[in-house]
Amino acid sequence: MEKRVAVLPGDGIGPEVTEAAVKILEVIARRFNHKFHIEYGAIGGNAIDKHNNPLPDETIALCENSDAVLLGAVGGPKWDNNPSALRPEKGLLAIRKHFDLFANLRPVKAVPSLLHASPLKEEVAMEVDMLIVRELTGGLYFGEPSHRTEKSAVDTLVYTREEIERIVEKAFEVARLRRGKVASVDKANVLETSKLWREVVEEKKKAYPDIEVEHMLVDSTAMKLITNPAAFDVIVTENMFGDILSDEASVITGSLGVLPSASLRSDGFGLYEPVHGSAPEIAGRGLANPAAAILSVAMMLNYSFGMKTEASAIEEAVNTVFEDGFFTADLAASGQRALSTQEWTAKVIDELDVQFVSN
Ligand code: NAD
Ligand code: IPM
Ligand code: MN
Repeated sequence: MEKRVAVLPGDGIGPEVTEAAVKILEVIARRFNHKFHIEYGAIGGNAIDKHNNPLPDETIALCENSDAVLLGAVGGPKWDNNPSALRPEKGLLAIRKHFDLFANLRPVKAVPSLLHASPLKEEVAMEVDMLIVRELTGGLYFGEPSHRTEKSAVDTLVYTREEIERIVEKAFEVARLRRGKVASVDKANVLETSKLWREVVEEKKKAYPDIEVEHMLVDSTAMKLITNPAAFDVIVTENMFGDILSDEASVITGSLGVLPSASLRSDGFGLYEPVHGSAPEIAGRGLANPAAAILSVAMMLNYSFGMKTEASAIEEAVNTVFEDGFFTADLAASGQRALSTQEWTAKVIDELDVQFVSN
């Protein structure tokens, strides 16, 4: 197959982890006889520096002419005091909105060889296998009015029925491919948007009698993610709750550095990025874990290109490298030598080579 991939490295560790991910994409192309046309674009802080715009028109045009987008991360202290329109994060929000990437899939699965780094007891974290389906283009992030004065500030939480319907449907659909359980997370004891959310879930579930649905409040969900995370299959929730719960869930596995994500439009077009941010304090030193970016490439192959064998090859290689006891600094046990971003990526490439020779 021939595909065009737009790569937006972004800021901080973004360029390091996307470089690693692109290397893996190139190995897959070679091994499986695909052609990936890779073109780079600016987003976030570097785009502000160069174009005075966190999402320049030429980046939008590049993505529009691509079959999928791979993104690193945006943000950093250099731009933290910028006015809102000139913040790196604005670029990320704008690209999600522009491409209508409403469905953010964030899988969280425990890997036995990483559990030493989990803050939870091994027996609690062991069986974790959940998928957070986060609404990504609505809610507090985008509601108007949103402004501030010296004395007060306003953000608006608004959801339309249609916005809720499409994300809930997506959650039911993906649950069918998993264990058939959906936890819909809201704050319906307080918020009007959550009451509407619950109503829509109740209506939609009629079309999915095979799916087990549970409504949960976000505060107790935050607790249950720590006390009994293995109980969750699919979690569906609004934008802000999903942002918070997915960082919480991510550390169960040992490190935020291993969690990939897909942000999808209804026709399957997607942007793929690690769940983690730009980690400015470790940037440029080869300390970043590239696993989340590499696994985001696997999600791209799977969801946007239908390349399931290729995606599994990457996942298997990453798992084997972990099982063999090779870790970057975020996961290495004390006293153990940590591999650099590049060394760890080379291990994954070796592993893909081994797989290929033995198949
Ligand atoms: P962060 O995710 O960048 O970092 C949180 C912690 O995890 C830090 O200790 C960091 O060192 C560590 N970490 C993250 N990714 C890692 C990796 N791949 N390997 C090893 N360690 C890793 O979150 P933050 O510190 O709250 O935010 C930093 C900046 O990133 C902010 O400007 C924020 O707005 C931005 N951000 C961007 C995205 C994104 O681009 N999608 C997501 C979250 C935060
Ligand atoms: C994420 C990030 C973003 C979000 C920020 C950087 C705008 O935290 O992708 O999870 O809140 O969605
Ligand atoms: Mn986040």
